[in-house]
Amino acid sequence: MGFIDELKVKAKADLKTIVLPESMDRRTFEAAEKIAKEGIAKVAIIGTAEEIAKNGAGFDLSGVIIVDPYEDPNKQKYIDKFVELRAKKGVTPESAKEQMEKDYMYYACLMCKCGDADGVVSGACHSTGNTIRPALQLLKTKPGINSVSGFFLMEVPDCTLGYNGLFVFADCAVNVDFDAEKLSEIAYLSAESFRSFVGAEPKVAMLSYSTKGSAKHDDVTKVTDAVALAHEKYPNIELDGELQLDAALVESVGQLKAPGSKVAGHANTLVFPSLEAGNIGYKLVQRLAKANAYGPVLQGLAMPVNDLSRGCSADDIVGVVAMTAVQAQQ
Ligand code: ACO
Repeated sequence: MGFIDELKVKAKADLKTIVLPESMDRRTFEAAEKIAKEGIAKVAIIGTAEEIAKNGAGFDLSGVIIVDPYEDPNKQKYIDKFVELRAKKGVTPESAKEQMEKDYMYYACLMCKCGDADGVVSGACHSTGNTIRPALQLLKTKPGINSVSGFFLMEVPDCTLGYNGLFVFADCAVNVDFDAEKLSEIAYLSAESFRSFVGAEPKVAMLSYSTKGSAKHDDVTKVTDAVALAHEKYPNIELDGELQLDAALVESVGQLKAPGSKVAGHANTLVFPSLEAGNIGYKLVQRLAKANAYGPVLQGLAMPVNDLSRGCSADDIVGVVAMTAVQAQQ
């Protein structure tokens, strides 16, 4: 059974309500029909009667919850919650209502915040920034977590490295700038993500262009500082660095460059030193190794919200909904 099929089985065991706010896109309806038919989640679409009629035509939406943002009896509750959360940022009842009607991502996050939904999947026709920002503003981080980051679950075919070809790569999506402290937190969250999605022990490599002091530069020091912080704050995680990618993945290279390391040569969770490295790295593996790249999945948010690629198919949406539902179960 493939990774996504296993997740679907988990999702079906405890049905969660996942919102798809992009009723302006037909892929949303195609995915919703499949999700409802397969029983992966209770699925809700936000849209007016006109939007549903136009973009949902031809799909069987009998198992799908439709939330009309102009007729919804819960709307005032969401406006009140929005004002309660963001009054200090200048949000008034009028501006809250306007924002929710203009951008259904805000509406979806408020449904989660008020306990009427368990997660959101969006981004088929919105940028990553516009998908993530409402979640950061309204749902915030989990207790004890400072920063949300984004990982990809990489499934590399015919690969014995990592955990039989399964890896977590992070941060590939969110933090444009980060220091050693943020990097150590990304490592912690990535280890937790690996454990919960793959069900095996994470071995975290803190990647660099240097292995164990082979090069000296502030960029290398950022990684070694993050390693020291992670060892101090999260002593139960098997983590090592700084490691070059080959030392992290290939046993013979790992033994040569980082002798005695329990992670070198066996890493399954790769933490990149910058967003450029992470974003380019996952796309290289996706395109050249023909890997499945599931994500970006957000880690560290108080409730699960996940982004889609704008080139996604309806089946990709179904897969990300299954991941979101499993996150919501946890
Ligand atoms: N974790 C937690 N909260 C955060 C984070 C974070 N990483 N980043 C911002 N916030 C909070 C801020 O504290 C702020 O909260 P407040 O309004 O209550 O004070 C709120 O989010 C908005 O922050 P801003 O800095 O105003 O938001 P910004 O416009 O910078 O957006 C964003 C943040 C969307 C994450 C931005 O950093 C971004 O666009 N990142 C890159 C996304 C991207 O383009 N990724 C690559 C493509 S993804 C792909 O290829 C699959």
